[in-house]
Formats: sequence, C-alpha cells, structure tokens
Amino acid sequence: MDDIRGPDRASSISTGVRVWPSKRYAKMHRDSIEDPEAFWDQQARKLEWQKTWDHVLEWKEPYGRWFVGGKLNACHQCVDRHVHTWRRSKVAIYWEGENGETRVLSYSTLFREVNHFAHMLLSLGVTKGDRVALYLPMIPELPVAMLACARIGAVHTVIFSGFSAQAICGRIGDTRAKVIVTSDGGLRRGKIVPLKDIVDQALPACPSVENVIVVRRTGQAIHMREGRDHWLSKDMTGAHVFVEPVAVESSHPLYVLYTSGTTGKPKGIVHGTGGYMVFNYVAYQWVFDIREESVYWCTADVGWVTGHSQIVYAPLSHGAAVVLYEGAPDYPAVDRWWDIIEKYGVSIFYTSPTAIRMFMRHGEKWPARHDMSSLNLLGSVGEPINPEAWYWYFRHIGGERCPIVDTWWQTETGGIMISPTPGIDPLALKPGSATFPLPGVDVAVVDARGNELEAGETGYLIIRKPWPGMLLDVYEDPARYREAYWSRFPGSYYTGDFAMRDEDGYFWLLGRADEVLKVAGHRLGTAEIEDAAIAHPAVAEAGVTGRPDELKGETIVLFVTLKEGIPPSDALKKEIADLLRETIGPVAAPGEMYFVDSIPKTRSGKIMRRVLKAVASGKDIGDLTTLEDEASVEEVRNALARLG
Ligand code: WT7
Repeated sequence: MDDIRGPDRASSISTGVRVWPSKRYAKMHRDSIEDPEAFWDQQARKLEWQKTWDHVLEWKEPYGRWFVGGKLNACHQCVDRHVHTWRRSKVAIYWEGENGETRVLSYSTLFREVNHFAHMLLSLGVTKGDRVALYLPMIPELPVAMLACARIGAVHTVIFSGFSAQAICGRIGDTRAKVIVTSDGGLRRGKIVPLKDIVDQALPACPSVENVIVVRRTGQAIHMREGRDHWLSKDMTGAHVFVEPVAVESSHPLYVLYTSGTTGKPKGIVHGTGGYMVFNYVAYQWVFDIREESVYWCTADVGWVTGHSQIVYAPLSHGAAVVLYEGAPDYPAVDRWWDIIEKYGVSIFYTSPTAIRMFMRHGEKWPARHDMSSLNLLGSVGEPINPEAWYWYFRHIGGERCPIVDTWWQTETGGIMISPTPGIDPLALKPGSATFPLPGVDVAVVDARGNELEAGETGYLIIRKPWPGMLLDVYEDPARYREAYWSRFPGSYYTGDFAMRDEDGYFWLLGRADEVLKVAGHRLGTAEIEDAAIAHPAVAEAGVTGRPDELKGETIVLFVTLKEGIPPSDALKKEIADLLRETIGPVAAPGEMYFVDSIPKTRSGKIMRRVLKAVASGKDIGDLTTLEDEASVEEVRNALARLG
C-alpha cells in the first residue's frame, strides 16, 4: 500500500452518465504512454529490490524484459516485507473451509509456514529454476507453497484441483516438474475429491517427479509410497527454520500457468518476477484502492491466473487481509458467500459474471438476509458482464453504494489491463464497459489490416506497447509465442478479443474473436475439445462451437461423426461427454451434442466453424456469405444440408 489514497467511494459512483475520464487519470495515462520508461521506473521503486535495475525495458520484439539487471524476491515482497513492520500481527489470510472449519494466518504465521515449506522443498533437492507442480484445493497451503517456491527461486506450476489425472500428466510432461505437492483430498459439496489418488494415477506417466509432498486435509486413508511420498509435517520444531529468500534476476520465471489457445495443447504461459510484481502491485492499488483496513475477497480458484495475481501476489504484496474460501458457492445453502461477507466484514469483493447470474436466478432474498454493509467496492472478471447482471450486483450485493470495477485482462497479461481505477480518482461507470486502460497500458481497436477504427466500430483488441506484466514466453515454445500473439498484427500483441471503443473513449469488450470459448468464465480451446473427443474409439471426426447461454455466457456445442457401422446412441453421447470431462475437466462437458454425417470442412481441411456456429445458434445462411477463403457459398450450402 502506498501513499495514494483514493477519494471517497460514494463520489466515484455515477452510472449511466457520460463523462470523460477525470483529470488525474488522464494525466497519468498520458505521461505513461509518452515516456513509459520514466513512468515504470517511478512505479518500480515501490517494491523492495535487492539490486536496482540498470535498464527499465529491453525490447527485442516480441520479447520484453523489464527492470533488467535488477534483483528481487517475490516472497520477500509478500511476506518478509510485512513481518519487518507492525503488520507481522495483521491478518494475512482468513481461511474458511467448506465444512465450517476456519484458520486465521497472521503475516508472522504465514512467514513461519512459508519458511517451513521452503525448507522442505530444499531438503528434497529443489533449487532455483526447478519446476514444482502444485495440485491442491483452496487451503492456505496452496499460497504457502507458491510463496515457498518463489522464496527459493523455484518455478511453480499450479494445476487446478478440478482437473483430471490426464491434465496433470500433460502439464508435468511439459514442465518436467521434480516435485508435486498435493493433499489427501479436497472438499466439494460435502464430498471428498481424492486428490492424492488422482496424483497416483497420473504419476506412472510422469517420470520427472521424484518426490510428492502431501498435505493433510480430509483425513481419509491414502496410499503413501515409501521414499517418494512425504507428509508436510505440521511439526513445528521447524518453526525456527529460516530460509534466505533468493534474490533472483528480474526476468527469472516466477511461474508457468497453462491456458487454452487455438490449437490442441494448452500453452504454458511463463511469467517473470520483477515486471509481474511491479505491474500487479500498482494495478491493485489503482483498481481496488486497497487500504490498510480493507478485507478483500476474490472468489476465484488459485488454480487460475485470477487466483495467482488477485489472491496471492497483488494483495499479499500490499499486506492486505485476504479471505480464502475452500468450497462451492452455494453449499450448504445458496447464501454461503453472503454469509462469508457478513462474517469477515469483507469490504472488497471480486467475482465473475457467471456467479452473479447464478445468484440472480436464486433471487435477492438470499443476499437480503445478510448485513453486507461492510462492502465498499465490487469487481467483475472473466467475461463480459451484461447490464442486467451488472445492475443486480450493484443493487443487491453492493446496496447501490459500491462502484463496480469491471476488469479486463488475460492469463497472458499477468495483471489487469482495462478497468475503472477508483484508487486514482472517481470515474463515471457504464454498466458493461471495462472503461479505460490502466496507466502504462496502450490498447487500440483495429480492423483486420491493423488500422485503428473509429468510435463505435467493432474490431480486434490489440496492445501496442510492452507492459511489465506481459508474459515472458510460452514455455519452451517460442514459435508458438510468436505465432499466437505477435504474427497477426505486426509489432502489436493480439489479444484474441473483439472490442469497441465508444464516443466517450470507453472500451467495451465483446468476447473472443478466435477459436477459444469462454464457458462460465473458463477458457477452452475448440481444437482441444475436438482432440479429446476424437480419442473416443467410436468417433471419426469432431467439430466444436459455442452457443450463447444466459447463465454461462457460452456453452459447448459438439458435432460428431461416428466411425463406419457404429450406430448413434444416448449411451455413446454420455461416454463421449464423460471422456471430455476426464481429459480436460468438468467444464468441458458439452451442453449439446449432435451426431452428423460429416463435419463441414474447407478444401484445405479446416473446419468451417462459422457454419457450425450458424447451425448451433439457428442463424440462416445469410450470415455465411462472407466466408472469405473458407469455402464457396455452394460448399457451405451443401455442408448445411448434410448437417440437416
Ligand atoms: C479472456 C481471458 C484474467 C482473468 C480471468 C480470465 C475474457 C476477461 C473480461 C472482462 C470481457 C473478459 C476475454 C479474455 N475476459 N475479463 N472484464 N470483460 N471479457 O483469464 O482465462 O486468460 O481469459 O477472458 O475474452 O481474452 P483467461
């Protein structure tokens, strides 16, 4: 937390009123774009560096290296820095287990646990640069393990605990992690998810893993293999261990996190240390206007980038008090979240449009049962928020008092890029618009040729200048990094999103423009789903598209052709759906599945996705006559006829 203190929140709400961005923001943004190096040099001084940088930015397109020559440690920023002040007794994490168990970790407890964990990693031979896989439920040991890795310069790769053994294999195969950290189980709607068993299934195919660290959570009997599997000891004789944080180079990788792209295999997005930490530190102040007394709760799972940046690195680097909740949003009752807000006096609450829409369905009587007057700021992330959900959130959760920060960003951007900034000054909000880019962020809406569009026109969102939170690379795949982000619009980063800038300069993010779906805010590649479906022995070909959905934003529609002589059946549909669930995860279960005679393809063998989309959403062929080089209108007609 630094000296910037935002204005009174009440004055920053003004919905539906057209106002240009305020003076303070406008000046900051202008200065940051005119002289980015001077701007970021100033911002970076807010962290504690073991060695100051020689250059703010080294840009060798498409690689940006920030604060070159500087050395720092991310764990030091999030933990040690606070235990050297009065914050040692401040709450770092309020943990709420699904079953009502609770734990409160002060910054000094966090310090002790992180050191203990780091010591255990060292004793298993983990050193700087080694990869460590984390497959844990939402328990304090997950942030503790991340910070312990950062402390010794190891690179964590968190695997969402809803993922299957196969997903674990893919990620560990790619990073060749030496150690995996898991727990006996996790709780989800009162049932035990047997995480250690799932790891045991995955490990025969993961030869790089030498050791497994197991955290006790659910307490059931599990298999522990002698010599390989080790309990994380709660034996606090380790209480006095101190592991010196390793000062790493600014561009030393902090973590690898997998996310879906337009081709089959998820990409390992690599984030560095210095740029990532600086960007998240300042963005958190600007967007969430964090104050010493704030109680902050982000409902994301730590397994996604939102959890990495907005539960762990940004809030803890500010010494904020963070709520961490283990379980399902509506368990044991629909008001579980509102109960948590009341219980901990949450002041800043950050969630997804899908969650809001789900609660909307259940009705306002649930939040109305709780005193949520502690709230003063709300946030939204992951997908566009429709005005109806925005207003419901504003009224029934925020009591018409709290501004909503609609934050646009991506796994790749590392931190929030477009959002209102109540921590800088008040700004009129427009429901459904993420408003303006943060200082230091240079975005534009362009046509297919890269020409900037006029106000009101829809096009592609690009980022024209490097920013400190930008990904370092795609893990061990520089060709894919170039191809996915830097080839479409030379010199600029392509986001894959449609956007529009209105006459007041506000940005509206309009969904994916590429072959990526957003289902309940989760990112899924169409090719990834197709590959998984084709693995079923009865499936010859598969084609996937998305269909707009009131609750989830988008649902998966899967078209399948079966191998010769195999009759379609409901049993087969179920098998294919189960396979997708298993290979990719529960979010990959299709909303609809159709058996068809053939999947429409172009002469070059590319699936004609627009045809699938048109069929799935009941649009007529009129929308398809601009298929460009994909196929002739005649081919499209034939394909449609075959799809029936
Ligand atoms: C994609 C990135 C980074 C947070 C979690 C998602 C969509 C994200 C918004 C928003 C409209 C949004 C975009 C983006 N998206 N936030 N506020 N308004 N769309 O990270 O899984 O990497 O997905 O989510 O389509 O490209 P992700």
